[in-house]
Amino acid sequence: MGTRKVAVVGGDGIGPEVTAQAVRLLEMLDKKRPLGLTLVQFDWGAEKYLREGVGLPKGALQDLSDNYAAILFGALGDKRIPDMAHGREILLGMRFGLDLYVNYRPVTLLHPSLTPLKGVTDLDFVVLRENTEGLYANVGGIFKEGTPDEVAQDVEVNTRKGVERIVRYAFELARKRRKKVCMTDKNNAVRYGGSLWQRVFKELKAQYPDVEATHLLSDVAAMEIVRNPARFDVVVTNNFTGDILTDLGAAICGGLGVAPSANINPGKVSLFEPVHGSAPDIAGKGLANPLAAFLTTGLMLDYLGHPDLNAAIVAGARECVAAGETAADLGGKLGTVAAADALMERIARKV
Ligand code: NAD
Ligand code: IPM
Ligand code: MN
Repeated sequence: MGTRKVAVVGGDGIGPEVTAQAVRLLEMLDKKRPLGLTLVQFDWGAEKYLREGVGLPKGALQDLSDNYAAILFGALGDKRIPDMAHGREILLGMRFGLDLYVNYRPVTLLHPSLTPLKGVTDLDFVVLRENTEGLYANVGGIFKEGTPDEVAQDVEVNTRKGVERIVRYAFELARKRRKKVCMTDKNNAVRYGGSLWQRVFKELKAQYPDVEATHLLSDVAAMEIVRNPARFDVVVTNNFTGDILTDLGAAICGGLGVAPSANINPGKVSLFEPVHGSAPDIAGKGLANPLAAFLTTGLMLDYLGHPDLNAAIVAGARECVAAGETAADLGGKLGTVAAADALMERIARKV
């Protein structure tokens, strides 16, 4: 069997710092058990964009979809590009261009000490964020720009196909978990998209009678994630709401330093990235927590057929947090490389 290719895109700020550690993790695992992966580095990010005016090079999407099994991504974001034009071209370019319609964002508490929620010792749910349409569809425009009559519109696009496939994914995922799906939208105010999500949800609910299907308005969902997170198993929602709820999900598990995510087109090349951004406030200082990138690598390995390696990474991460072997954002004393070393040592023992 030939090897499968993984594109590695560090990006900007702490992106390359944590991704380099994720690559070391893959190299360590590969020595223990050949993974059959060839890593190919790409220099996409702010530097290239500013130098050449290129975000995602021509032909890149075709190359990725023809020749790659996965993309391991760091983060984008650079003060010199305040409107994040390169980020939209590269990251949203891949999400949309590769039709990565499932944004899979686990909300997992590695250790009770990490949550700011009183009395909570365990958190384990997944937010599935629709990832290819909604408010991110780039439909809209500015009318009468710069005049007192200026009008700015971002149109929220909800297609039946788009809603159906993410909601179906949620029911399928719930069947493999605790058999509960909560769909959340704002149909009491945002009527047309809300109506479509409601109708699709009702139809699929009937097809999955073994799954407990509930609905919450998104403002209430945000409150419930703080008030009673144990009620959730799989939460499914639109692109924008999912963006917000998953930073909230990260916050109740210890912050952005621990939150991984996957952007999946089932069976096709898929993209794996931490939830966090380029963290300009700590970039270049060796302080970034590599944990989110490690857990993200675990999600990638799971997708590539190694669920046991994902489990080993999560278990190693739990041990490190329990032992206080962490970066500063989690209260530890370790820099990026030392935190990665500690994680790798514990993970290595389990493989
Ligand atoms: P951010 O996630 O970069 O940082 C928010 C806060 O969390 C900062 O204080 C940062 O130091 C901290 N933090 C984040 N990751 C950390 C880690 N691994 N270890 C320790 N601390 C960590 O969000 P921001 O500051 O709002 O955005 C910075 C830039 O990143 C912006 O340009 C934004 O558009 C971009 N961004 C990119 C992505 C992405 O590429 N997926 C995601 C979010 C934000
Ligand atoms: C995320 C980020 C991105 C998003 C930005 C950087 C475009 O916040 O992955 O959550 O909004 O999807
Ligand atoms: Mn976000």
